[in-house]
Amino acid sequence: MKSPVDTEISRRGILVGGVATAALTVSTADAQTPPTPAQPATMKVSFDVNGKRRNLELDTRTTLLDALREHLHLTGTKKGCDHGQCGACTVMVDGQRINSCLSLAVMHQGDRITTIEGLGQPDRLHPMQAAFVKHDGYQCGYCTPGQICSAVAVLDEIKAGIPSHATGDFTTRPAITNEEIRERMSGNICRCGAYSNIVDAINDVAGVRA
Ligand code: FES
Ligand code: FES
Repeated sequence: MKSPVDTEISRRGILVGGVATAALTVSTADAQTPPTPAQPATMKVSFDVNGKRRNLELDTRTTLLDALREHLHLTGTKKGCDHGQCGACTVMVDGQRINSCLSLAVMHQGDRITTIEGLGQPDRLHPMQAAFVKHDGYQCGYCTPGQICSAVAVLDEIKAGIPSHATGDFTTRPAITNEEIRERMSGNICRCGAYSNIVDAINDVAGVRA
């Protein structure tokens, strides 16, 4: 049978052992170097922008919009909402319009990208740019690069026979009407409300009387 003294020694031993273990744990933790934050993953990507081959190494989370604006300094393409809701960031990829804020740059390896700078320049405007000037298709101009890229692609879509929600008969080629244009341009928001002049500009390029 254990004496009260044996019991006391035993309890003290446990307590001392516990304290020593805790101290060792703390001192080991102190000695550890703080964890280094994980480096963002990067990837090389190469695509053609307005006829020039561009090679970039990007954080894989970089959107095509940010690659164009921040890395290639092509600031004609605008950032409005950055959420796919306004169309200000519209560019063409292999001839088709996309919202560049919704697409990762590294997904475009080998693609052919056209921005507003690639459509025309002040001394040689694209017909759609000239029509926007002629018809006052803008006020502040913030949405305009996206509107023009979209408008060029819209006429190509109609020409290719691609139907829209406004196309009444899917068995015939869609016609260029105000309804078709308004429906197809509905993803491009203009806070200045230049919509009717934009439609006039597009009709003008299409050779259709509004
Ligand atoms: S910035 Fe891309 S849709 Fe608004
Ligand atoms: S011209 Fe100002 S937002 Fe369209």
